[in-house]
Amino acid sequence: MSLATTKEMLLKAKEEGYAVGAFNANNMEIIQAIVETAEEERAPVILQASQGAIKYAGLDFIVAMVRAAAESVKVPVALHLDHGTDVNQNVKCLRAGFTSLMFDGSKLPFEQNIEITRRVCDMAHPCSVPVEGEVGQIGKCDDSDEPGVSIEKAKQLMVKPSEAKRFVEETGVDSLAIAVGTIHGCKSAFAKIDLKLIKSISDMVPVPLVLHGGSGCDDEEIKKGIKAGISKINIDTRIRMAFSNAIRDFMKNNPGEIDPRKILERAKNAAKEVVRDRIRVFGTGARA
Ligand code: G3H
Ligand code: ZN
Repeated sequence: MSLATTKEMLLKAKEEGYAVGAFNANNMEIIQAIVETAEEERAPVILQASQGAIKYAGLDFIVAMVRAAAESVKVPVALHLDHGTDVNQNVKCLRAGFTSLMFDGSKLPFEQNIEITRRVCDMAHPCSVPVEGEVGQIGKCDDSDEPGVSIEKAKQLMVKPSEAKRFVEETGVDSLAIAVGTIHGCKSAFAKIDLKLIKSISDMVPVPLVLHGGSGCDDEEIKKGIKAGISKINIDTRIRMAFSNAIRDFMKNNPGEIDPRKILERAKNAAKEVVRDRIRVFGTGARA
């Protein structure tokens, strides 16, 4: 299928009470792993490219690879910009064929975040491309952090429901990333999400809510989060870990191997298992 947008995908998830996985597309093997698994599970899926991934692979390569992957399957596949922190990046992605954008102004003063996010919506909506905004701040897990330290940091950055409401009303965003206790880049599942906060935001705003830093939540936490009102969950670290660990293990057992295809096939298969497992926990299987 040609690329879908995240608009209908997320509204359907919100309506039916599951969450769509948004998996970070960092290279060809990971893109193939995500899309093949989504097809096997008959799950709608979002592939997202961060500014770092775009810098690494090149914008045109990302678009061409995701398009080719989407065209090879029947399930809906969207291409989303993850944490676009400047307007220009959003413009470039819109022109290049992304079917979903994100302006992340969470580190800016609140009024400025509203103003720039609104400008991105004004640019994207006439092209029928939806936009995700972010309120509160979703921090990054530092390897030196004890889980307790990260949890404390995350608590201080959580969003207020009144801010979320005002942000949605004044920007026109189609989905909203909310800081509710998760942290980016956790290598184990220790994050605690504030379910009451999710529920109260979900009662106050009409748009689908997004959970970033999804790798740091265990399955029970995720399921409760979806029940409280989360419709999109971002996963990157779990895939990175599975991919890299598979390469490390393979090379340890086959130190003389020089064929990248043999090495990366293991890594791709490891990424597929992470995606499959998350799709099942998110309740997205057989929804396409
Ligand atoms: O935007 C990307 C995600 O929030 C991924 O977070 O690396 O902790 O899974 P994660
Ligand atoms: Zn994120």
